[in-house]
Amino acid sequence: MSHETPSSTATAAHTDVPANGSAAGNGNGDAFENLSHENRKFAPSAEFAANAVVTAADYAEADADRPAFWARQARELLTWSKDFTETLDWSNPPFAKWFVGGEVNAAYNALDRHVENGLGDRVAIYFEGEPGDTRTYTYAQLTDEVKKAANAFESLGVVKGDRVAVYLPMIPEAVITLLACARIGAIHSVVFGGFSADALRSRVDDAEAKLVVTADGTYRRGKPSALKTAVDEALSQAGHTVQNVVVVKRNGQDVDWHEGRDHWWADTVDAASPDHAAVGHDSEHPLFILYTSGTTGKPKGILHTTGGYLTQTAYTHKAVFDLHPETDVYWCTADVGWVTGHSYVAYAPLINGATQVMYEGTPDSPHQGRWWEIVEKYKVSILYTAPTAIRTFMKWGKEIPAKFDLSSIRVLGSVGEPINPEAWMWYRDVIGANAGKNGEKKENPAPIVDTWWQTETGAQMIAPLPGVTATKPGSAQVPLPGIAVDVVDELGESVPNGHGGFLVIREPWPAMLRGIWGDPERFKETYWSRFETMYFAGDGAKKDDDGDVWLLGRVDDVMNISGHRLSTAEIESALVSHPAVAEAAVVGAADETTGQAVVAFVILREDATDSGDEIVQELRNHVGKEIGPIAKPKTILVVPELPKTRSGKIMRRLLKDVAEGREVGDATTLADNTVMSQIAQSLRK
Ligand code: WT7
Repeated sequence: MSHETPSSTATAAHTDVPANGSAAGNGNGDAFENLSHENRKFAPSAEFAANAVVTAADYAEADADRPAFWARQARELLTWSKDFTETLDWSNPPFAKWFVGGEVNAAYNALDRHVENGLGDRVAIYFEGEPGDTRTYTYAQLTDEVKKAANAFESLGVVKGDRVAVYLPMIPEAVITLLACARIGAIHSVVFGGFSADALRSRVDDAEAKLVVTADGTYRRGKPSALKTAVDEALSQAGHTVQNVVVVKRNGQDVDWHEGRDHWWADTVDAASPDHAAVGHDSEHPLFILYTSGTTGKPKGILHTTGGYLTQTAYTHKAVFDLHPETDVYWCTADVGWVTGHSYVAYAPLINGATQVMYEGTPDSPHQGRWWEIVEKYKVSILYTAPTAIRTFMKWGKEIPAKFDLSSIRVLGSVGEPINPEAWMWYRDVIGANAGKNGEKKENPAPIVDTWWQTETGAQMIAPLPGVTATKPGSAQVPLPGIAVDVVDELGESVPNGHGGFLVIREPWPAMLRGIWGDPERFKETYWSRFETMYFAGDGAKKDDDGDVWLLGRVDDVMNISGHRLSTAEIESALVSHPAVAEAAVVGAADETTGQAVVAFVILREDATDSGDEIVQELRNHVGKEIGPIAKPKTILVVPELPKTRSGKIMRRLLKDVAEGREVGDATTLADNTVMSQIAQSLRK
């Protein structure tokens, strides 16, 4: 096979960021260089394969008739209050309708029906708080809580179709709130608790939210931290649509109170009736909006609807994790503020009747073995987390997980960014093969499923099936049954094995986004204009000699920091909103732990008085205030000029070379060819 790097593919022509830069940025560069030598493969054990809930038959069935495959999944995995009459309406692409005419209630499917089926006493959620407090909810109890919350939200005037903003920590009330909204047909819009008041306000405004659900605060590394203050700040300026704020008491800290607007959860939800009848909503009724960063400054409100989303999240959760709901204990470590926390915490596990662990805190509090202590305590059998976490644990040392009994683990999942083969092997050996705290090793380590998907795809799209696929360190490998993924060149032609290009999705899929809230043009433009009849994911990818797909990172101006998506443009506009900054350019530079780290190059205004450490600190805080702590640049470099093309486009590729300490690449298209040496000189000072 060829040893070409991905930069020789179509990507370089289309954007300023070559795919090989992104690949290196995601820590997958080495893996890729060695791709042709990557012949380690781990077939499922005979025992695992024999007990697997999904077999290779699903691929054959879906290949034969894709819509029929999904129709079967929809009817088997969900209870419809009204059956659908048409599986897929694709008469007006890119606007898809799945399970047309069907009616279904997400909360009924996640809760009531399990209770009706005699599973009321099964544990739905084991909650582990950061300070060590715990709560257990059975399906019966969780059903009651959701019914109460549904009644409470209705009593505050929320009706079907209204938007509810959710700004909560990882506590059971987050799941309860989402399901209560879904129950009454209100559209939730979760804003990650790490986003700032400004970011919250812009999302509240874009969605025109009527209600906000928040908490007084949460705990971070043993200390209380505030949340409601950000809601108060966000709503302090008039002109918003919020009528009520429901506040969960979580850490007991003092809060400002706005009489008439603010209501304690205890006074509204806890006091409400636990009787609430669920009615079916149209299959295409909006379920939620979730904002995600794009290539321009303004975050996009990704819209998901009900029937297709629930079908694909439930199917993938069962198939990819080999879920045996009677015996498994599942733990997805993602925050509900991200899509993973929607699909694989709030919805799919409950739809599938699983028992799951939910943890509020960070992995290092009060000690670096906290996660493994939780795995041991609850006998977690399926663990789903991100490469950045795995690399952090690698850094902390294998002695820490070795002190715990992780023998219950039988499936390991990865999501959010490419997982480098080194981290993959560590995950397998140190976590997946742990057979007890005395250093025993399993003969058959737990299979690893690397799952590629996006906020927009709603559910997993590319992943091995643990009882079927021989897994390969570093590759997400194969599209799931019923999913039509391809890697194409710039003309949209499928590339042969051994070649790279753009990742696309050729056919509509049930959990696909239905649009961008309030902006159908941007929806078409962003995803359906690069290749007219295919969905453009924004990722570079390559097919290896076996035809397995390797993800190479973004080919657009989107960064991936610890598996979280941030846009260069968004951080740049935050920086230039500071009075001392004249111009700014942001790149994602390779980082050992977080995959990429934000590096900003700024030109200060001439009248800026300070150019030293102080201004750098001030600018970092400014970005934290504008967007949120997760967006704070790791490094800010004050430079005299920025590299631009003659048409004025910043050549981030060159800045990325500087940020990653590489020799600067081809700079011949620069308008001023002295700029890079000016930058180098200023950085040497
Ligand atoms: C982007 C989507 C999916 C939930 C979390 C992130 C990257 C995601 C993988 C993976 C390589 C991955 C892609 C994608 N990504 N999973 N397994 N291997 N890259 O959701 O914030 O919407 O980001 O994350 O670049 O486009 P998101």
